[in-house]
Amino acid sequence: MNILGIESSCDETAAAVVTGYQVKSSVVSSQIAVHAPFGGVIPELAARKHLEAIGPVVDQALDQARLTLAQIDAIAVTQGPGLVGALLVGISYAKGLALALNKPLIPVNHVHAHVHGALCDQDVKVDDLSLYPALALVVSGGHTNIYFMRGPTQFELVGYSVDDACGESFDKVAKLLGMSYPGGVAIEKLAKQGDGTKVPMPRMMSEKARLQFSYSGLKTHMVNLSEKVRRGTADFAAADLCAAFQEEALGQINRKLTAALALYPQSKSLIIAGGVSANQRFRALLSGLGTKVQIFWPRLQYCSDNAAMIAALGGLLAHEQGTQAKNFHDMTWDAYARYE
Ligand code: KG4
Ligand code: ZN
Repeated sequence: MNILGIESSCDETAAAVVTGYQVKSSVVSSQIAVHAPFGGVIPELAARKHLEAIGPVVDQALDQARLTLAQIDAIAVTQGPGLVGALLVGISYAKGLALALNKPLIPVNHVHAHVHGALCDQDVKVDDLSLYPALALVVSGGHTNIYFMRGPTQFELVGYSVDDACGESFDKVAKLLGMSYPGGVAIEKLAKQGDGTKVPMPRMMSEKARLQFSYSGLKTHMVNLSEKVRRGTADFAAADLCAAFQEEALGQINRKLTAALALYPQSKSLIIAGGVSANQRFRALLSGLGTKVQIFWPRLQYCSDNAAMIAALGGLLAHEQGTQAKNFHDMTWDAYARYE
């Protein structure tokens, strides 16, 4: 089955054609340059840029896959969570296509889709259930979620952040230190030259059995440290600050995943996904967990937002629900939900 995926939830307009986990094309038009001068995503600008990009991006995805619209079996689209104006561009476009072509339309949860992005173009068959039950971590700009998955489309949320998301804290700390947006890449780069042990850091959410994350205290700690540096009452190099922050931001996840594996010992695999999973230090830090369970890391192009992940989960949902064209008026559209 050829699934066309469409993604427009934040600052990337993306389209992809996927069969199972095999990606035939994946096109991402990033708006980073548009939002960078503001230090964060401006929703109104994002929606307008999606409107400009969506048509050409879908055409390009079809061209690269060497397929016509007639050869597409179903259309999957991000229904949420995300910025409402941005989501509506992708949803309206996908709805129009599905209606005109009389093909099934599959609404997909963006956060759940990240998990399947980690399996795209890997040595895994889409109908291979030997990975499950699995634990999955989505660590992105908007979410730090742990799911216990009994099957590929069953997402039981067992851990989440009580305040900021991990990626969001990288972005905020980078802004605080006068670094470029998005902050994760900039912090990782500078942290390589630093020594995290030179800077005192708090241990967040140290209660072992709780799977909740917290990042706002860490952010406040960084605000206080940089204020001390500014006043001259402390002397920490920016590289050391970045290294210390990164170590605790990612160390917290390492601790919680260790706890999750103890709480869910039946897990056969650990699937890591989302923008922060591109971080090399993160991959090294978590490698110790690989002795307990098989770990899947996304290929770099599927860490951050893309439409291959939307199409991959869309394909699984289509398979479950059958490919009968839906009555669009009966669908429970949820373009407005920000949190689960
Ligand atoms: O998954 P994603 O592209 O978008 C959301 O769905 O949020 O994740 C974006 C987040 C940003 O907060 C960005 O700073 C972070 O992922 N990120 C990183 C790295 N690359 C991207 N964080 C840490 N280290 C990185 N190398
Ligand atoms: Zn995302």
